Amino acid sequence: MLPKINPTETTAWKELYKHQSEMNQVQMKELFKNDPKRFDKMSVELDDILFDYSKNIINEKTLELLFQLADESQVKVAREAMFSGEKINLSENRAVLHTALRNFSSETITLDGNDIMLEVREAREKMKSFCKKIHSGEWKGYTGKKIKNIVNIGIGGSDLGPVMVTEALKPYWIEGIQAYFVSNVDGTQIVETLKNLDPEETLFTIASKTFTTQETMTNAHTARDWFLKSALDEKFVAKHFIALSTNEKGVKDFGIDLENRFVFWDWVGGRYSIWSSIGLSIALTIGYDNFEKLLKGAEAADHHFQNEDFKTNIPVIMGLVGIWYTNFFGAETEAILPYDQYMHRFPAYFQQGNMESNGKHVDRNGKKVTYSTGPVVWGEPGTNGQHAFYQLIHQGTHLIPCDFIAPAVSHNPVGKHHPILLSNFFAQTEALMNGKTAEEVANELKDSKMSKAQIDELIPFKVFAGNKPTNSFLVKEMTPFSLGKLIALYEHKIFVQGIIWNILSFDQWGVELGKQLASKVLPELSNEDEINSHDASTNGLINAYKKWR
Ligand code: F6P
Repeated sequence: MLPKINPTETTAWKELYKHQSEMNQVQMKELFKNDPKRFDKMSVELDDILFDYSKNIINEKTLELLFQLADESQVKVAREAMFSGEKINLSENRAVLHTALRNFSSETITLDGNDIMLEVREAREKMKSFCKKIHSGEWKGYTGKKIKNIVNIGIGGSDLGPVMVTEALKPYWIEGIQAYFVSNVDGTQIVETLKNLDPEETLFTIASKTFTTQETMTNAHTARDWFLKSALDEKFVAKHFIALSTNEKGVKDFGIDLENRFVFWDWVGGRYSIWSSIGLSIALTIGYDNFEKLLKGAEAADHHFQNEDFKTNIPVIMGLVGIWYTNFFGAETEAILPYDQYMHRFPAYFQQGNMESNGKHVDRNGKKVTYSTGPVVWGEPGTNGQHAFYQLIHQGTHLIPCDFIAPAVSHNPVGKHHPILLSNFFAQTEALMNGKTAEEVANELKDSKMSKAQIDELIPFKVFAGNKPTNSFLVKEMTPFSLGKLIALYEHKIFVQGIIWNILSFDQWGVELGKQLASKVLPELSNEDEINSHDASTNGLINAYKKWR
């Protein structure tokens, strides 16, 4: 049973509240000075991933209380409930079993009396044999040409994951295959994407759990029209359109051969679906074997999350440290900063992962929460971000805990690029912690030509308070296996936090509102009549659009 515990009523929460007033005064750099073993104590290695959380405003007592919070919130009970297939997505009455998709053991997972692992293995086999056909050229386009272009059409979880992973694993792309992604209903994206593509060599994967999402269906129809302009005969659609969906009827109605439907199930949430057939565009781009390595990396992280003691359990620590800042320091945002250009969509991917999952204000008892839940998550790759928004992280008025992520080995070891990149990574986490005192600034300026008065005037602007928390993830090399692991660690962090915040992390009713409202406005745009059915601002905007279009 999923626990429904108000975290503020736990002993640990109350103690953490008191403890924060002590920790508020503490400087991390002093903690390092006083404990030469701090890094050893506050870092965990999971094979080729080193997770260092020592640069946080925490001490042993903080951790003890945070682990107590996890215990009192019954994270272990909830973890077991998720992995075993209990219907923990209460508001949709669904199980949450994306972990089953990367389970390569021979165990059974029973849901409503059926062993879902049988279907999962079958679905993987189907993906594998399809990839083989495409890559070998056995599957041909309608004029007998080999497929070269994969265009994935989807949005949200049916897009962000495939984009993020294919970009992060670009060095693994199969020769002769190009991947493209269309998500936005803005016609610009599909027009620009199709501009230079040859329909005879292009395969569309229509990725939609529901197969009703307006953006995806609009883009899919446009792609179909574009294809038929060349192919001229609907019977050729079967060679060029594949569906990744739970909705059999929707797929059939669109005209896709059911043979070409890759299934998944309602117990896979959209933002957790890269491990399912939604990952087909990934497998087609990097090869099925590499896709399987991605799954196996995630499976390794699942084992870690399930079996590791909380004291060395990476997602548990990530979740707890995040809660420490959100609920006890009033931090409202978190930044994810990959020092790896290939991982440029990783922050966007986990922006959805976090914000759609934990952006909730009602607890599992249906009551309004009295504490903060999921923070705003954002980020950009380093070092670009350093020249854009790090100023605010260093010297602004907001506390922004940051995750720094970097591979030790670059896929492109050209010149000194990688050491330069990594020196920035290390220097930033150090500078965020140490800051710069007035004395240090004065010392730096003492040899300049400035007068003492000028120096004194400048000092306040050049002082850095420091004590800004960071987590660091150093990954040996960004391989499919290590990326799979990293993604799953972040997923479980979200889970841990959702459990402690006593919210439902696997629904997304907030997104549904936009869908309903847009479909009400659309018919009003189809004629020239003046619109009066909304508030004055919305009427004014619609009427101006109608005048100018
Ligand atoms: O954005 C809301 C959402 O429901 C996501 O959870 C999901 O990933 C996305 O829409 C796309 O939905 P579908 O896969 O059904 O097209």
